[in-house]
Amino acid sequence: MCGIVGYIGPKEKKEILLDGLQELEYRGYDSAGIAVIEGKKLSNFKAIGKLKNLREKTKSYKSEGFGISIGHTRWATHGKPTELNAHPHLGAYSYVVHNGIIENYQNLKEELQKDGVTFLSQTDTETIVHLFEKFNNAMNDPFPAFQKTIEKLEGAYATLLITEAAPDTIFFAKNGSPMLIGFDGEEVYFASSDTPIIGKANEVYYLEDGEYGFVKEGKVTLFNEEGEKNFTKQALTADKISAQKDGYRFFMEKEIYEQSHVMTDTMMGRVLDDSIHFEELDKDFFDDIYAITICACGTSYHSALASSYLFQRLGKMRCDVEIASEFRYKEPFLTRKTLFITISQSGETADTLEALKMAKTAGMKTLSICNVDNSSIVRESDVAILTRAGIEKGVASTKAFATQSMVLWMLSLYLGQVRETVSEEILKREIDAMIHTPKALIVDEKLHAKLTRLSKRYLHGHGFFFIGRDIFFPLALEGALKLKEISYLHAEGYPAGEMKHGPIALADSELFTVALMPKTMHYDKIKSNVEELSARDATILAISPEPFELADDFIKTQYDSHPMLEFFEMMVVTQLLALEISVRLGNDVDMPRNLAKSVTVE
Ligand code: F6R
Repeated sequence: MCGIVGYIGPKEKKEILLDGLQELEYRGYDSAGIAVIEGKKLSNFKAIGKLKNLREKTKSYKSEGFGISIGHTRWATHGKPTELNAHPHLGAYSYVVHNGIIENYQNLKEELQKDGVTFLSQTDTETIVHLFEKFNNAMNDPFPAFQKTIEKLEGAYATLLITEAAPDTIFFAKNGSPMLIGFDGEEVYFASSDTPIIGKANEVYYLEDGEYGFVKEGKVTLFNEEGEKNFTKQALTADKISAQKDGYRFFMEKEIYEQSHVMTDTMMGRVLDDSIHFEELDKDFFDDIYAITICACGTSYHSALASSYLFQRLGKMRCDVEIASEFRYKEPFLTRKTLFITISQSGETADTLEALKMAKTAGMKTLSICNVDNSSIVRESDVAILTRAGIEKGVASTKAFATQSMVLWMLSLYLGQVRETVSEEILKREIDAMIHTPKALIVDEKLHAKLTRLSKRYLHGHGFFFIGRDIFFPLALEGALKLKEISYLHAEGYPAGEMKHGPIALADSELFTVALMPKTMHYDKIKSNVEELSARDATILAISPEPFELADDFIKTQYDSHPMLEFFEMMVVTQLLALEISVRLGNDVDMPRNLAKSVTVE
């Protein structure tokens, strides 16, 4: 969470920082701030809320001449989203920005307070700047003081520090949270991901955990626990795929409409006429693998859950799915014959990344399915398969889920192919359905208009149940998550057959049930489950190719030949329903409250 930028050089710094933060705003938008030191001139601005507030506040400010600068956009962890808690945090003569959590900050803070330091904020971050100044006051040497500060920190951090004691230097450290350094001749940039520096820098170095150092006169001096370290820069793409809204009202809407064509990219070179091919996987990739464990969070966890049905059905392999934050602390029994898969849109999710590190430590083979190349999860995995969804800007994930689901479907079929657990007939049937998927994802304008109309009936009540069976159960979980994220209405996903074991007690006319009723999968069973709810007066929104007379509202889908085609078509319906309810409620669709796009804290 949180986004960091930094710049050292002669250019105007305010615009560089604000432009960079704009690209990172998806990581958090509770507050933002910048700090600039030019010679003896120190400037610092902070504003709560979105970046536009900081822009407004800095309207009449312009930096001049050579200087050092840092900026931050915050997703609050310690302390409310107030201006005092916004970064950069100030000591007596230094500023710091930080992404992550300093786990031992309470102890550090108490020690500093005993020394007479007054804290202005409730954040863990502020301890860094005071600790640094304490050491620097004693040593009068900023880099060793910074080094000593870093040694004291426990937890995850990416941090930048500037100080009047060294007005030509930026100090940096990374451990567990992402940060990279961009280069353009003598000018040096820092950022949490590469988008803020594309078009500005031409080379990049992705910092590794445990690395820290300083930059001065265009030169980066880098250290890790073994001492000073050489590093190799790599070329940075100059091609900024700027994610504009292209006439859509929201990024989320654009991304729902985009799903059809990004899916073609996801399949390109992988779905062949009569086989599945992954150039990322060696022929013997699955040799000696007897089970799969998948670990992920949120939406990515839902795609994993859906795939567990497919890995068993097509690949005839045991597949367990774990929520990453739970997996980490359950002391899991890990064996080398189990393939460990992580799924992540951003590739930076702290819980997933840590789970992956555990699997690696246990000697497991690791594969990640990710949307962001060069992200921490991709770099940490033995092998990565990219989902090719393009930049996803809406905080509520849509096309990432669709493309993850597709990669997992392809992978389960690939497994069936190499293990010879699928017949030629099944292989052909699956490939045929895959090829039709982009069509099933095309948004029908009439359907969208109908959902816009229907949405007005679903703004009250005491909650939603999304229900489904088999792979439609994870889809129900995902539909409910989408709705609650952007509408702030209570919604739950449930296996349809489980309703009678408790939740049906909630049924009355104010309980909205969104029933996923595919023709190709247990239609009669789910029909009975929905009838039970209808008999108790629940309001039913049925989504099905088959007309259902007990439905209060009915969305007719087109595909009825393959479960995955029904899956993708129904996915679009649930996404649009959530979108339109959120719009009617006047919520911020792309940046819903309390959320961030990339969750880099535990
Ligand atoms: C929901 C959503 C989140 C993410 C979760 C994991 O719309 O986006 O639930 O799926 O935070 O993020 P990634 O996939 O980046 O690891």
